[in-house]
Amino acid sequence: MMPMSGELSLVLTFGTMVCLAILLFFLFRQPGSADPWKINRSAIKLGKRLGEGSFGEVYQGLYNNTPVAVKTLIPGTMDPRDFLKEAQIMKTMQHPNLIQLLAVCTEQPIYIITELMKNGSLLDYLKVRVGRLRLYDQIEMAAQVASGMDYLEMKNYIHRDLAARNVLVGENNVYKVADFGLARVLQATPMLSSQSKLYYIPVGKAIFPLRWTAPEAIANERFTIKCDVWSFGILLYEIMTYGKIPYPDLNNSQVKRMVPNGYRMPCPVDPYCSKDVYKIMLDCWKENKHDRPTFRSLKITLRNVRV
Ligand SMILES: Nc1ncnc2c1ncn2[C@@H]1O[C@H](COP(=O)(O)OP(=O)(O)O)[C@@H](O)[C@H]1O
Ligand SMILES: [Mg+2]
Repeated sequence: MMPMSGELSLVLTFGTMVCLAILLFFLFRQPGSADPWKINRSAIKLGKRLGEGSFGEVYQGLYNNTPVAVKTLIPGTMDPRDFLKEAQIMKTMQHPNLIQLLAVCTEQPIYIITELMKNGSLLDYLKVRVGRLRLYDQIEMAAQVASGMDYLEMKNYIHRDLAARNVLVGENNVYKVADFGLARVLQATPMLSSQSKLYYIPVGKAIFPLRWTAPEAIANERFTIKCDVWSFGILLYEIMTYGKIPYPDLNNSQVKRMVPNGYRMPCPVDPYCSKDVYKIMLDCWKENKHDRPTFRSLKITLRNVRV
């Protein structure tokens, strides 16, 4: 036999390596991973529990050796096919003030894997800092949320559940909007926690966060970005009151009856709320949705508030 030339043996070695790489790819490929971000549950290592929400628990986790947050949903809270369709869109939303969706497991219980935010929800963050924030800090929170929402507005995407519980706090005073679009695919389920019964009420087949929702959205079950602007006004109220429940003196049926008839929350006095900020809340709560500001203009107005 002729001894192999150096070049030929190099080509053969290279060929073997390519074959091996292809073999390994097929061996370790996750089943059903046509979408590289629709992953198998075994790709996630669950760690400590970070919190409990209205529709399931949230854990710290490891994905690709990176710390992540893993939201687990109580079975029945959404149809996995509806969720997957929505998640395809959520995945494309990328902005420094929006929580980035990283991957999903769509078998029940559904897992939603997102970036991890060290300081948890804005609602909890506010509650442990009562009276200890400067107006400057509160405006900064609102301005960052308006910035994330301005991006969604530009993309013609509606949040449907904008509230302090759905804003997360990172390091160095970074605030990001979470859970956008999820409310669209949520279904009323008898297994909801008592906390969720405080926030969400069934309307038709869907459930709505009553105290955060614009009256016209409850009346005709149709959401627009202008409903998100209304919710932003409520979120401003939460920021200024360090996480008080909106309409603290009203029960659900009073809210349902009085708000469509023109009732609006008064300017918070204890703790004191800046009159400029209260004016922004009232603009967000204008009865005619077309009179409400855009997120783009809210972002600019907040940057110009006197502090
Ligand atoms: N990406 C995340 N990073 C860190 N903590 C998170 C993250 N997502 C959720 N959490 C924690 O889990 C809790 C529950 O989240 P979630 O299920 O969205 O609750 P809710 O129904 O109140 O919006 C939050 O209050 C927060 O403390
Ligand atoms: Mg949430």
